[in-house]
Amino acid sequence: MSSGILAIETSCDETAVAVVEAGSRILGNVVASQVALHADTGGIVPEVAARAHLRWMLPVLEEARFRAGIERWSDLDAIAVTEGPGLAGSLLVGITMAKTLAWVTDLPLVPVNHLEGHIYAAWLHDPEDPVRSMPEFPLVAMVVSGGHTFLVEMHDHLRYRLLGQTVDDAAGEAFDKVGRLLGLPYPGGPAIMRAASGATAHDRRFPRAWLGDSDDFSFSGLKTAARRAVSEALGQPESERGEPDGSRLPREAVAELAWAFQDSVVEVLATKTLRAAERSGARSIVLGGGVAANAVLRERLAQGAAARGIPLVVPRPALCTDNAAMIGAAAWHRLRSGARAGSQLDARPSLKLAV
Ligand code: KG4
Ligand code: ZN
Repeated sequence: MSSGILAIETSCDETAVAVVEAGSRILGNVVASQVALHADTGGIVPEVAARAHLRWMLPVLEEARFRAGIERWSDLDAIAVTEGPGLAGSLLVGITMAKTLAWVTDLPLVPVNHLEGHIYAAWLHDPEDPVRSMPEFPLVAMVVSGGHTFLVEMHDHLRYRLLGQTVDDAAGEAFDKVGRLLGLPYPGGPAIMRAASGATAHDRRFPRAWLGDSDDFSFSGLKTAARRAVSEALGQPESERGEPDGSRLPREAVAELAWAFQDSVVEVLATKTLRAAERSGARSIVLGGGVAANAVLRERLAQGAAARGIPLVVPRPALCTDNAAMIGAAAWHRLRSGARAGSQLDARPSLKLAV
C-alpha cells in the first residue's frame, strides 16, 4: 500500500516537510519558520538561513513522518524536493536530504519548481477548510510571493501561458521594503497588514501602476512614492534625504501610510487578475504565494470574482506562504508525467516557470 509523496521545501527561510496523497490529501505538514531568526537583521542572511535549514531538516522530517503515520519508507510513492528558484545554500540542504532519502529507499526523486508549488496549493484538500472548491480549467492563476509576481493561464495540468509579470520588484518585496521604511518588523507583509488595520484616515494618496492595458506589474514607483511620503511626514528637508527612518513617526501616521500602500498594491493586483480572468473566459481564479495571505487582497478578489460569477480558489494563509504540502501536490502531477531526477540533481536558484 502506498501512502503518498514525501516533499521537502527549503528554498528560502522555512524548513518544511509534508506527506501528500494523490496530489491533494495532506497526511502530515510541518513548517519550521526562521522568521524570529531573521527579525534581528531585518531580512534574510543567506548563510544564516542555510545553517538553520541544516539544524531543522531532520527534526522536521521526523515530525512530518510521524504525523503522517509513515512507518516504512517503502509505503511512500516518491520523494519530492524544491529544486528552485530560491537561495542556493538553502535549496542545497533540502536537495541533499531528498537525494539521500531517494538513494537509500530506492524511491523516485521528483524535482519541483517552487512557483508551480504555489499554484498547486490550490488543489490541496484542506481538512481545516473543507468547503473550499477545487480549481477548474481553464483558469487564471496569480502568484504573489517575496521574489515573484506573475499571472498565468492554464488549460490543463502543468501547462502555463504567461500573461504578465512584474517588470521590477515582486509584490512581497515591495511590502518588505516599505515595511522596513516604516520601521515595522520583518517580514513587512504581515506587519503592514496589521498596521493598516489600525488606520482611521483612508487616503488613496499613492499612485497605481496600471502600465496601460498590459497584464504586467510594477511596484518600484510606489516604493519611491512611499519613501517620499515618509520623508515628508518626518519633515526632512530635500537635501538630507537618504533612507528615512519611519520608526520615528507617530503610530497613526505609520498606520495611514501602511493603509495607503496596501490599498495601491491590492487594487492593482486584484483589478489585473479579474480583468485577465474575464478576458480568458476562466472558470476559476487561483491565488497563491505569501502575499495571498493578505486579508484585504483576499477580500477584494473574492468580491470581484463573485460579482463576475467566477469561483476564487485561495488556500488558507498557512498554505499560501511557503510550505511543503504544495510541493507534494505539484510533485504528484510531475511524477505522473514521468519527471524523475537522478544523482546529478542540483539547485537552480533562478529557475523560471516553464511557459
Ligand atoms: O511565498 P512566500 O512565503 O516566500 C517566497 O516564495 O518568497 O512569500 C513571502 C512574502 C514576503 O514578502 C512577505 O512579506 C509576504 O509574502 N507576505 C505578506 C503577508 N504574509 C506574507 N504580504 C502581505 N500581507 C500578508 N499578510
Ligand atoms: Zn514561496
